[in-house]
Amino acid sequence: MTGSGLVITIDGPAGSGKSSTALAVARKLRLTHLDSGALYRALTLALLRAGIPEEEWEELDREIWEELDLRLEPEDSAFHVLLDGVRVGPELRSPEVTAAAPRLAGIPEARRRLIDVQRSVAEEVGVVADGRDMGTVIFPDANLKVFLTASLRERARRRLLQEDRPADPDRIEEEAERIRLRDETDETREISPLRRPADSVDIDTTQLTFDEQVDRIVDAARRRASEGLTGRGRVG
Ligand code: C5P
Repeated sequence: MTGSGLVITIDGPAGSGKSSTALAVARKLRLTHLDSGALYRALTLALLRAGIPEEEWEELDREIWEELDLRLEPEDSAFHVLLDGVRVGPELRSPEVTAAAPRLAGIPEARRRLIDVQRSVAEEVGVVADGRDMGTVIFPDANLKVFLTASLRERARRRLLQEDRPADPDRIEEEAERIRLRDETDETREISPLRRPADSVDIDTTQLTFDEQVDRIVDAARRRASEGLTGRGRVG
């Protein structure tokens, strides 16, 4: 499955495994993974590096947002994020960036800055885009929309394992509370809140293995393709 203009969206709450799933789906279908969270993280990193205090972000002029030099470069099945022409990597996942990104994501100018970045890459290559508003705001006409969920405890457990931290009951509870607060911020913000797209395929992954959840999406995409990619609404 290749081709520019082809879009699969995967939205869902924090820790639902969207990014790793989207990358695996992109590899299987020979598409390119667009990790929209990395873009919000990159803008956050740029402002932290520039030393602009967080309390001032909301008031920044549109020109400042426009001047931030953020680009995407496709390679294999994913995009690299470039800030000032230089690739950024693990710094995007630092605790400082993770903590400040939800605040930035609630600022209308920040979201506006990223609309074209996301839509323009999808004109060049077929994408599997993951985030919070991919199917609702950025790609409302996507060929396939998926909404991934899992129980809060399961998401907390997976997050701890992913970060090589012990997943004992106390730590799971603590992590679950952190995730719950991030979900609340994303679901209650005024602009582009996390919502299930009305026409999404919903997959609860609590009882699924990683491979099973990837396969469900790949199967749904192939079914859509065999319908001529014109079908909208629920499949499977
Ligand atoms: O998915 P990830 O944790 O990398 O996203 C970082 C932050 O960016 C999230 O906490 C969320 O607030 C925000 N985000 C968003 N809309 C998206 C993707 C991410 O608001 N489409």
